[in-house]
Parts: sequence; structure tokens; C-alpha cells
Amino acid sequence: MGLKIAMCSAFVLVVMVLLSSLISWGSATVSYDYRAISINGQRRILFSGSIHYPRSTPEMWPDLIQKAKEGGLDVIQTYVFWNGHEPEPGKYYFEERYDLVKFIKLVQQAGLYVHLRIGPYACAEWNFGGFPVWLKYVPGISFRTNNGPFKDAMRKFTAKIVNMVKAEKLYESQGGPIILSQIENEYGPVEYELGAPGRAYAEWAAKMAVDLDTGVPWIMCKQDDAPDPIINTCNGFYCDYFSPNKVQKPKMWTEAWTGWFTEFGGPVPYRPVEDLSFSVAKFIQKGGSFINYYMYHGGTNFGRTAGGPFIATSYDYDAPLDEYGLLRQPKWGHLKDLHRAIKLCEPALVSGDPTVISLGSYQEAHIFKAKSGACAAFLANYDQHSFSMVAYGNMHYHLPPWSISILPDCENTVYNTARIGAQSAQMKMKPVVKGFSWLTYNEEISSSNESFFTTIGLMEQINTTRDNTDYLWYLTEVEIDPNEGFLTDEKWPILTVLSAGHALHVFIEEKLTGTAYGSLENPRLTFSQEVKLSSGINKLSLLSIAVGLPNVGPHFETWNAGVLGPVSLSGLNEGKRDLTWQKWSYKVGLKGEALNLHSLSGSSTVEWIESAYVTERQPLMWYKATFDSLDGNEPLAIDMNTMSKGQVWINGQSIGRYWNQYKALGGNCSACNYSGWFDEKKCLSNCNEASQRWYHVPRSWLYPSGNLLVVFEEWGGNPDGILLAKREVESVCANIYEWQPTLVNWQMKASGKVNEPLPPKAHLSCAPGQKISSIKFASFGTPEGFCGNFSQGSCHAFHSYDVFEQYCVGLQTCSVPIALEIFGEDPCPDVMKKLFVEAICT
Ligand code: GAL
Repeated sequence: MGLKIAMCSAFVLVVMVLLSSLISWGSATVSYDYRAISINGQRRILFSGSIHYPRSTPEMWPDLIQKAKEGGLDVIQTYVFWNGHEPEPGKYYFEERYDLVKFIKLVQQAGLYVHLRIGPYACAEWNFGGFPVWLKYVPGISFRTNNGPFKDAMRKFTAKIVNMVKAEKLYESQGGPIILSQIENEYGPVEYELGAPGRAYAEWAAKMAVDLDTGVPWIMCKQDDAPDPIINTCNGFYCDYFSPNKVQKPKMWTEAWTGWFTEFGGPVPYRPVEDLSFSVAKFIQKGGSFINYYMYHGGTNFGRTAGGPFIATSYDYDAPLDEYGLLRQPKWGHLKDLHRAIKLCEPALVSGDPTVISLGSYQEAHIFKAKSGACAAFLANYDQHSFSMVAYGNMHYHLPPWSISILPDCENTVYNTARIGAQSAQMKMKPVVKGFSWLTYNEEISSSNESFFTTIGLMEQINTTRDNTDYLWYLTEVEIDPNEGFLTDEKWPILTVLSAGHALHVFIEEKLTGTAYGSLENPRLTFSQEVKLSSGINKLSLLSIAVGLPNVGPHFETWNAGVLGPVSLSGLNEGKRDLTWQKWSYKVGLKGEALNLHSLSGSSTVEWIESAYVTERQPLMWYKATFDSLDGNEPLAIDMNTMSKGQVWINGQSIGRYWNQYKALGGNCSACNYSGWFDEKKCLSNCNEASQRWYHVPRSWLYPSGNLLVVFEEWGGNPDGILLAKREVESVCANIYEWQPTLVNWQMKASGKVNEPLPPKAHLSCAPGQKISSIKFASFGTPEGFCGNFSQGSCHAFHSYDVFEQYCVGLQTCSVPIALEIFGEDPCPDVMKKLFVEAICT
């Protein structure tokens, strides 16, 4: 009885805390102590998620924030993207996807808090780590060190942002939602390398930030010596081992990596939610109180915002909300259940440090007790291979390998990190527009001399383009004597071009002769190939392409791109001829870029021809097509699988770079077990396929009719294969064990409504507007496999299919108790059974 009262009051307290977070912005203050961040004087366990506002459209923001809230988040975290906000010195931009204030206000309206990472260095696989390229050309500048010009620029931008949000009263100290800010980003390792100037800069940055007087705490991530009162925090796949640098600071995890980014040429990483939830539970049981999922919604690197180089346009990150803003199940649901379970423990958790008891060689209990009587326990099994039966209190608990069970009353398990109660979903891309009528426009290689300039020798690319375009032409001529031996024996000479990156197309006499490119690990490239030259003057045109500027690494701002040489021709009568120091002409960008061919107005200034007259796989080709409205509101994507490399726009908006011809070679995509230490190379998909095939087309960029789709193809492709598809749920699955603990059942028992625990339920829900049309698979017994590929085991209850057909078909959502009596006779007494079901949504 006493226990029940304690549980009820704990529940009431949780509800009160939740309500107060929704209604009272009032004169609240944010403070911290060793245990947690306190808001309104109340210590809080806070769940946060990164959503970077320019990686989605303002039209998507409310839905993303709402789904984050439903997923159990309290806080939204974002970087501030300096190069988006100050494209030219002193010229600021805060519109559209860069409307930071609007984004923060939407979070506030949803009743959530904000963690604003001003940086202004972001990293984030974002172009140049978030720095504007003009910053590099400020005289005497050196980034992220004790350098006057850099510190001036950093202070100016940081103050600009702080003053802007202050003017809008967005700090919590003013009644707004921002409870935390961040200065710098993962500076610790850089400081270590730089030594004294690094240390001086870190101290300056900390003081500069604190002096801006935001009224809320500042943090520095991965910065072990963050000066007081700044809180140093942890980033990583696991952070339970982490302790802040002072006893009065709380243990915070600012980047719990939910997956990892994709690079062109790499496989697509994913992280099993059983391991992610295990790492989170482990952090909490070891006294952690703030967790931010990086990313909660990764989104898209639209335009030329991807960093790297070689970062893909998709920044999906295997996040709980997928690139398109749809729930990634079971990740989103299993984390939601985790958050609810932990929130039930909050009163005990914030009361103090846990008592730790060993329950076996690899098993432990962490027990939190409050003076109020509230008690919460976390039972952990660190064994990577074996189940464990542990004795705790008066009971025995069954723990799967590499898992933690959560007991909000120190008695009943409501959640285990390796037992997923949430449904999984299989997504599909359903074609909606195929067979566009393409018109083409041929990008010219060279000819008119006006926009050219000439020098002796080779020029660095970023200095030349200032990153206003990916493209830089290097043009020269090679004179071949009529007496050259290769003209008769056809032993063609070899052209060798060394480039600092990132990709290169070589044209001789305006014909594509070859291509070379680097990778994220090594952006440099060497082109070395036989070239068919003729007697007399041969025009050599090198198109050098940047694929995003670096965002991380020691003094990454000094890294070069472009053809820096040497460039040479070997196999001539004279042996080898060095072309490096001869006369080179340069052309910045493409003619089509100068003409704005991607826009409605620009594209109407030139004459396009019907693609039927164009030879297939022609390089340097612009394509355009129009299409009318698309009904529904499902997210859209464009399939670029028959193209090679280039950029794509819709109604003048850049969808980003595509490079589906860069295949993911070299990774290992075999089955991946959640159990055991995770890193970004452990679980991979898309091996030997395009790193990215589908490109997100935001709905809000479309008009009711006359939509203009423009593609610039560098390499040659077949545009007839391009199609537009809707992304939707194909099927949903549940994967439930007999007697799997659930929070709902615990609440029923705790409230005295039932004496015995109820069986768990399989919940299946198609997307709004869809219905369950059939049951593809159902087996209560010992089924095997994974969603989309289940198979029956040796034990199978005869009525498995009937039950789901009866309960679910024709409905959008259904719940079925996983109880023996529902499935008829016990198909295999004494065997632990489970249910696997897959329902088709249409
Ligand atoms: C972190 C960095 C983030 C992001 C992440 C990898 O080290 O702080 O900005 O780059 O790595 O996705």
C-alpha cells in the first residue's frame, strides 16, 4: 500500500513538472548544480534533439517539432549557421530556411525549450564548418586561435545573434525558451594541438560569451578545461564514462549520435536503437541528466551547404525522424518509450547519486532513492553475448545481452532497452511522375574570351571562385609537332594532372576524355590517362569541381582545392613535357550558372532543344522539364539513378548536388548485431550501390502547376530514368515477446486496476489516410527474421493470421494482446514464444 502511495505521488509529481514546463515561462531562471540543470528551481532530466533549421523548410518545422515533442523531447538543439546568415560582411540574412527567430518561436509555441549552439564554428558536415568564405580573406586572420581579426569577427557575430534573440525576449531569463547556449564546438582537441595560443583563445571565448549576459548557462562541448562557469559536456556514441571538470557541474551529453552522416562514395551508416537506448539508459544510471540526440532530424544539405568535402546531400543520419520528416520506426517509438520510462524515475533520479550493487560479473543495479520514498532502479547486463537472470530485491529479472531494464518503483520492469514494444515500419517510394519531356541546353566548354583571365601557372580554386560556384575551368593549349612518334605508332602520350581536389573532368578539343575524383578521406586526386592528340594545337580544358569545403581538421580553412599541378605530358619525342608553368586561362563557373538557367526567368532566355536529338550520356548538359500539381501531402523525392553527377533544382530552388554514380565500395554491409560497442563503421547499408539515389524535393517548393525541374549533368546520363516519387509507409511490423514488460501494464497495476500484469500488446498503425489492407506475415511461436523478411520457426500458432486479420484489416490502427488464449492452443509449451507480424498499409 505504502509503495502504491509513493508511486502515485511520484506520478502526480511528474505530471506537475510536465505541466509547469508547459505553462510557466514567467520569471523562471535556469541554474545548475552537480546533479542537473534546474528550471524554476526544479532539477530536471532533459531530453533534447538536434534539428538544424536550414536542413528543412519552414513549412516542415512545426511538424518536426511536434513529432519531437510526441517523441518525449523537452528541448530542441540547433547550431547557428554563420555563413547562411552573413553571406557578405555586414549583410545579414534571416529569411526562409534561415529564419532563426521564427524557428525558436515555433519551438516555444510547442512548449519546448531550446539549446542554441552559437559556435559560431559549427562543424556539422556543413560547408566550411559554418564559417563564411569571406572570413578567410580578412587580412591577417587565422581561425579558431588567439588571433585579433578572428576574435573580432567572432565576437561581432556572436553578439549579433545574442542581441537579436534578446530583442525578441527568447532567453529563458526573459520568459523565452532558450535555456542553454554554446560557444565554440569541440575545441578541446584543437587547443591541445595549438598549445598556449589555443588556451588563451578558449579562455577569451568563454569570457566573451559570459560577458554577453544571456541569463542562462553556457556550455562548451568536448572541452575538458572549459573555464567556470561554463559547463563542459560530452559528445560521442557513449558518454557514461564522462565527468565534468568541476563537482558543481552536471553531467551532460550534447551529442548522442543516433547514426552517422553519409559521404559520396561511402556506404550508409545506421545505428540500432537497442544500442542507442542502452547508451542513454547507461548514461542516466551513471548520473547523467541531459541528453541531446544528434541528430533527431538530420534533414537535407540543400544547395551547396554540404561540407566535407564529399558529404552527401542527404543528412538523414539514421535519425528518429527521417530526412523527409517521417517517423523512423522502431527508432522513434522505442526512444519515446525510453523517455517515458525515465521520466517516471525523475523524482528519484534528481534526488542524488545512485547506490551501485553488483549482480554478477557483468551485471549491476543502480538504485536511486529520494527522501520522499521514491525509488528507481536500473538493472544492467553488459554481457555482449549472454542473457542473464539476476536476483534483485525479492525478485528475479531476465536481462537480454547488452541491455538495461528500468524499474521506476524498484520492483516492476517497464522497459528494457533490447525489447522493442514500438512498431517498425518499412517505407517505399511510389512513383508519381515518370517520363518527363526533357529539353536540353549544351553547356559550352570555352570560346569567348571575355570572362577569361590568363596567368602563368596554376591557381588555387577557392581563392579564385570564392566558393561562389563549384566549377572552375583551367584552359591551356598543347602544341604537337607533326614529327611526334606517337602520331604514327599510336602509342598515345600520357597526360598526368595532380589536383588538390575534389573532382576533375578532362576535355581535349571539347571532348570528355576522362574523369578523376578524391574522397572524404583523401580529397586529392591524380588523373593519369592516355590522350589522343593531333598534330598542331590541341585545346586542353580541365573542369575542376569542388564538392563542399572542409568543415573539420586542423586549420581546415587553409586547405586547398583545384589543379595545383604538376600537369605533364609524357611519351613525347622529348620525353616528358611540363605544362604547369605555361599560360593558363581561367573561367569561373558555368555559362548556364551565369545565365541562371535553373530559374524560371533565366531558363527562358536561351533556346532549348528536344532531348530526342541529343546523343545519350552527353557530358555538360542542362536538362529542363515541367510538370503539374501533385495531390496528397506525402514527402517527395527524385530518383537520379540513371544520371551520374551534377546538381538539380526545382522552381529555382537547389535540391543539392547529386552523385549517384559514386558507388559505396569497400564497406561491409553484412547483418549487424545491436549488441556490443558501436562505431560508425559497424552497421552499414547500400554497399556497392549509390551512396545516395533519392533526393528530397520539399512539397512547399512546388506550385499548383508549371513546376520547373532543371538538371545539370556533368558526366553524361539518361534523363529518361528520372522520376518523382512519394515516400510512404509500405508495411508495419511488431516484434513482441511473451511477457515483455510494458509501461502501460505497469501503470494499470500501479493504479490498482488489475492484480496481475496484463499481456503486452502488439500495436500496428499505418500513416494517417492509410489502412491495413492485408496481413503479410503473422506467427506466434518462434518466428525469425526482420520486418519485411519474416519466416516461420518450428513453433507456430495455427491461428496467428486469423487473429490479425480479424482485429486489424480495414483499420488504420489496431492493438492485439499477445496472450495464449487469443492464439488458441499452446503450439510449444515450455518454450518462450514471441509474435512477429507484418501488415501491409495502403
Ligand atoms: C561532432 C561535431 C558535429 C558533427 C559530428 C559528426 O564531432 O561536433 O558538429 O560534425 O561530429 O556528425
